[in-house]
Amino acid sequence: MLVVQTVAEVRNECKRLRAGGKTLGLVPTMGALHEGHISLVRMARASCDFVAVSIFVNPTQFGPKEDFTKYPRNLERDCQILEQAGADLVFVPSVEEMYPAGATTIVEVTGLSDRLDGASRPGHFRGVATVVSKLFHIFTPDRAFFGQKDAAQVAVLRKMVRDLLFGVQIEVCPTVREADGLAMSSRNAYLSAEQRRQALVLSRALRTIEGLVRQGEKDSGKLTAAALRVFGEEPAVEVEFCRIVDPSTLEDVADVRHGALVAVAARVGSTRLIDNVLV
Ligand code: PAJ
Repeated sequence: MLVVQTVAEVRNECKRLRAGGKTLGLVPTMGALHEGHISLVRMARASCDFVAVSIFVNPTQFGPKEDFTKYPRNLERDCQILEQAGADLVFVPSVEEMYPAGATTIVEVTGLSDRLDGASRPGHFRGVATVVSKLFHIFTPDRAFFGQKDAAQVAVLRKMVRDLLFGVQIEVCPTVREADGLAMSSRNAYLSAEQRRQALVLSRALRTIEGLVRQGEKDSGKLTAAALRVFGEEPAVEVEFCRIVDPSTLEDVADVRHGALVAVAARVGSTRLIDNVLV
C-alpha cells in the first residue's frame, strides 16, 4: 500500500493506472477509521481494480466553535487498518497541499447546503463540497464511495456531481452500527460510558418510526411526534432536529407514501451525533 502526501504523486499514480486501463475507486475520509469506513473500502475493493483512500481532516467543513483541533487523528493505526482492508493507496495531504496559499474558490450547492445539518452547521456543506470536488479533480475516480450515515452529505454531493458534470459514479453504502444499534462514528470516541448509553436514543427513535411505518402510519407529523416522545426518555440528550424529508431535495415531506429520509441530529453532552433511516 502506497502512502502519499502530495497532489503530484496522486496524479502520477492515477495516470499510470489509466494507461493500464484500470478502474479507480475513491473513499474520502477524515480518518479515525472504524468499521463504517472499512465497509466503504470493501465495497470499493469489490468493484474497482484500484482502491484509493484519502485521510484529511478538512478545516473548511468545521465551524469556528467545532471540534477541528480535537478531532481524533491516528494515522499509523488508520494505515494498518487500510492495509488489511486491501486499499492500494492512501492520500494524506497537509492543509497547505489541499488549500494552496491564497485559495479563495469554493463550491456551494445552493438550495441543498443549508438544509438539515447545513442549517445547524452554516458553511459545513460548502467545505465538504469544496474538498470533495478537489479530490475528484485530483483522482478523477470512476466511482466514489460514501456512507448513508451522512445522508445529507450524499444528497449534496450527488447534486454537485450532476451540476458540475463530474464523470464519477457516487456509490452509497449502508450505515454500519454497533451491536446495540448506535451508528458508528469517529465522534463516538468522545462519549463517556453514560453518554454512550444515552446516545442509543437516536437509533431507538428511528426504529420507533420504522415500526410505525410498517404498521401503516404515513403522516410525518405523527411519526416525528412519536420519535420526539422517545427522545423525551433521555432528557440529557438535546435534539437538534428530527425531520422527515425527500432524500434528494432534503425538503420536508408531509407523508412517507413515496419513501422518505428520516434524519435526526442530537447533542449528547458536547458531542453532536447524527443518524437516519430510509422508510
Ligand atoms: P468521515 O466522517 O470520516 O466519513 C467518511 C465516510 O465514511 C463518509 O462517506 C461517511 O458517510 C462514511 N461513514 C461514516 N460512518 C459510517 C457508518 N457508520 N456506516 C457507513 N458509512 C459511514 O464524511 C466525511 O468524513 C467528510 O465529510 C468527507 C466526505 C471525507 C469530506 O471531508
